[in-house]
Amino acid sequence: MAPSTESLQSLILTTLDTDSSIPDTLSLTSPDGTTLEQLQIQGALNSLAAREMLTYKNITRDTWVLTPEAEGLLAEGSYEARVFEVVRAALEGLTIQDLQAKVGKEVAGLGQKAAFRNKWIKQDNGKLVKCVDEVEDVTQAQLKEVKETGNLKNAKVLADLKKRKLVALQKSLSFSVEKGPKFSTTIQKLETDLTAEMIASGSWRKTEFKKYNFNAQGVPPAGGALHPLMKVREEFRNIFFEMGFQEMPTNKFVESSFWNFDALFVPQQHPARDMQDTFFIKDPQGAGLPDDKEYVQRVADVHEKGGFGSIGYRYPYKEEETEKLVLRTHTTSISTNILYKLANAPGGFKPAKYFSIDRVFRNESVDATHLAEFHQVEGVIADYNLTLGDLIGFMETFFAKMGVTNLRFKAAYNPYTEPSMEIFSYHSGLKRWVEIGNSGLFRPEMLEPMGLPKGVRVIGWGLSLERPTMIKYGVDNIRELLGHKVSLGFIGSNPAVRLDKKMGREAVKEGAAAE
Ligand code: PHE
Repeated sequence: MAPSTESLQSLILTTLDTDSSIPDTLSLTSPDGTTLEQLQIQGALNSLAAREMLTYKNITRDTWVLTPEAEGLLAEGSYEARVFEVVRAALEGLTIQDLQAKVGKEVAGLGQKAAFRNKWIKQDNGKLVKCVDEVEDVTQAQLKEVKETGNLKNAKVLADLKKRKLVALQKSLSFSVEKGPKFSTTIQKLETDLTAEMIASGSWRKTEFKKYNFNAQGVPPAGGALHPLMKVREEFRNIFFEMGFQEMPTNKFVESSFWNFDALFVPQQHPARDMQDTFFIKDPQGAGLPDDKEYVQRVADVHEKGGFGSIGYRYPYKEEETEKLVLRTHTTSISTNILYKLANAPGGFKPAKYFSIDRVFRNESVDATHLAEFHQVEGVIADYNLTLGDLIGFMETFFAKMGVTNLRFKAAYNPYTEPSMEIFSYHSGLKRWVEIGNSGLFRPEMLEPMGLPKGVRVIGWGLSLERPTMIKYGVDNIRELLGHKVSLGFIGSNPAVRLDKKMGREAVKEGAAAE
């Protein structure tokens, strides 16, 4: 049985006490005679060295060790000695068959050859007989020497043993030990914590504290890890905060059609509203309507009859449609609600910048890059006299902050923005322009019913969080990022993300140069 750490420590300390040093721990033997593992000794030395009770140095050396076959030879004698033994015991001599039956084919074959070479046995009338009365088992003696000293004086024989695969070289570690400044044969229990009481009573002055062991390899903490999407979200949040944005509360996945569609001037027959794209909630059926009945009426009117310079859609607006609950299809529902609150703030409208990053749901066919849900990064800026130029300039600064330069804009259509622009960026890996976002200036039909002052323009844009995350982490199947197939190892081992941030203007210049 391996000795306990305490008994090893006291063995080391008492040896040091009597001998004043231990030149090599290989010579240490436990009182009950069992061999000591050097690794265990190292553990004991480490904790004593931490208390400065001793110092130690590593001794590394190459040692010759016996292979399992050689261990067998050492225990039972060499093959030739075993052969000689049986031949000698058979007074009348022995046939080869008899020999094989007694010691086995292999031992008989190898041992016979060597025994002949050594002139221990000879053949007489077809039988094996002894030539000498006694032999010295040289091989066994050589193996014994290797086993005991880790070496053999006769280098030629050693090389021969190696060729016969009886010995092999092994690195070994042991230690030389000296007394340390705080040497003692008894181990004092060291304090590990400085307590309020010690400070109050002053006893800390006389207390011996355990030293920090800066070389100890800590156990990896078993705590949770942020999902890569959440790490990238954090980067986006920081960009927004840095640019003076406020975060919108998005803690509702279920939204009324009113805030998801109607208030955004999305017509009730719009294809995006039908069963294909939107998840409708069956139960409860109705959402109820906002308390501001006049606003609700102004929204109905602008759809049906127009107003604020618009002729409207001119269809019969249905209240039951507006009450339907949906899983929000975009976070623009949240932005719309916040803009309405901004328009009706007690102190009147003040310019503002808002953002949100959260989940949205669309009933799309699922493939390698699409799921029925994803995260939207969305921003809105409300101020007087904003123009399309402001939107473009802002987009260039915003995307440059995450390392995306070289933008192009393409006219697009959203029911709630005019003009609308899709944002493209050149992807040097894919060697093509990829869509990275959607944007626009919100329509007066959406803003004016809320009560926003006439000169106020609101620019908005949205992008997915998944796309930049997949690019950053080199994931090409969304199922590896989200859902039940995601490996926890992937989540736990991914590094924190750093978007390659650049200053806006500098990045824009670079983008222009790349064109
Ligand atoms: N809601 C749009 C989308 O789902 C993004 C957007 C937000 C576009 C705001 C314009 C303005 O893609």
